[in-house]
Amino acid sequence: MSEQKLVLSDPATGKQCELPVRKGTHGPAVADIGSLYREHAMFTYDPGFVSTASCRSDITYIDGNQGILLYRGYPIEQLAEKSNFIEVAYLLLYGELPTQTQLDTFNHSIRYHTMIHESLRDFFRGFHYDAHPMAMLTGVVGSLSAFYNAAQDTRNKDDQEIFAHRMIAKIPTIAACAYKHSIGQPFVYPRNDLDYASNLLHMLFAVPAETYEVDPVAAQALDMLFILHADHEQNASTSTVRLAGSSGTNPYAAISAGVACLWGPAHGGANEAVLNMLEQIGDVKQIPQYIAKAKDKNDAFRLMGFGHRVYKNYDPRATVIRGMCHKILQRLGKENDPLFELALELEQIALNDEYFKEKKLYPNVDFYSGIIYKALGLPTNMFTVMFAIARTVGWVAHWIEMTNDPEQRIGRPRQIYTGAAQRDYLDPAQRD
Ligand code: SDX
Repeated sequence: MSEQKLVLSDPATGKQCELPVRKGTHGPAVADIGSLYREHAMFTYDPGFVSTASCRSDITYIDGNQGILLYRGYPIEQLAEKSNFIEVAYLLLYGELPTQTQLDTFNHSIRYHTMIHESLRDFFRGFHYDAHPMAMLTGVVGSLSAFYNAAQDTRNKDDQEIFAHRMIAKIPTIAACAYKHSIGQPFVYPRNDLDYASNLLHMLFAVPAETYEVDPVAAQALDMLFILHADHEQNASTSTVRLAGSSGTNPYAAISAGVACLWGPAHGGANEAVLNMLEQIGDVKQIPQYIAKAKDKNDAFRLMGFGHRVYKNYDPRATVIRGMCHKILQRLGKENDPLFELALELEQIALNDEYFKEKKLYPNVDFYSGIIYKALGLPTNMFTVMFAIARTVGWVAHWIEMTNDPEQRIGRPRQIYTGAAQRDYLDPAQRD
């Protein structure tokens, strides 16, 4: 079959340019514009990359209109129901569901890399107690590059694998240290006899003064939240990791760039912003006033947890979390959580509002996750940290894919220059 082409004609010159069209396994056709500047001295312009594919990837696929999310081809709903986070981490990293032996080996490797260097723990003492945990996470994850500079040879497959295992294993330990420092409690060492989610809960909530039993319901809820947050194509933080990594920098430094990007309220910081918004709304009677603010072009207020660049239908992850909310809150004896009742009411009012329907603004993954994190006993400033723990798997998988992709080069976008035309320097006496 002859190669499909997109033919553009330049109105100024009448000159035609043919762009090869590429097709992936799923998703729209893609016009390959790589030759556009070389052969036609033209750039493309796409602020926010709404229509721009930055790379090829085998990891995750999203269909925003159908509300489909696949990890290595497997629907997120099936993985959330049948799998667990460590198995999903293996799938995202290696591309296939593991045999039992592969899973046991991977699980053992992760569990035996959970400790951090003792001097790394001292870094936390430099932060004031009220430092935001995401600020601590950004700083301490970046400082891992001072302990593992061997990862600098990023093409070595063994170095890539040990980086992946260390990063996935240590991010919960670092996150728990950030939380403990913020509440003035001693750090709790990881325990290799506990699964990934249980170990994190133990490091977060255990204290030396008494034994702490992990609630299996809480561990199961956390494990599922981690599956839902593990990866999501070329979202802002993953694209940040890829762009930072494309220079060949230390991969731990590239991951810290992803942490920094995720913190923003338009991205992973939305789960914290949702809870703050629900507490600000306070009462069902106030909802119409806030819906009006969200629709008012002159008001910067947005309905946090609503809208998505890709999903113009329900975010399938929000559907799973919404369903889980009721069950978890009941099992944790918090089924009458007023914030959850408020969230359900807000969702119904928004989904029946013409503005939100016309702009296809549905609840996204961040709308309900904070309600569960709060029910688990976490403060709102730890919600994005929980998102970062899960998304570290996706960031690492994409960093490895990018590093091994022969088509990938250092990322260096161009621009439309709209500044002053070329002009000569004037001495101070000549300036008016
Ligand atoms: C995540 O990319 C990913 O995959 C991200 C993520 C992942 O897993 O990595 O899914 C995680 O970041 C989820 C999104 C969390 N953010 C929020 O919940 C913050 C609130 N939502 C928005 O700020 C917004 O919807 C974005 C940032 C999520 C998407 O922004 P876009 O695609 O750039 O859309 P836009 O801002 O251009 O909005 C389109 C229109 C605008 O109106 P017009 O200019 O066309 O008149 O919709 C309006 C916006 O004003 N709009 C909202 C709104 N979101 C968009 N109006 C009110 N409330 C909102 N939440």
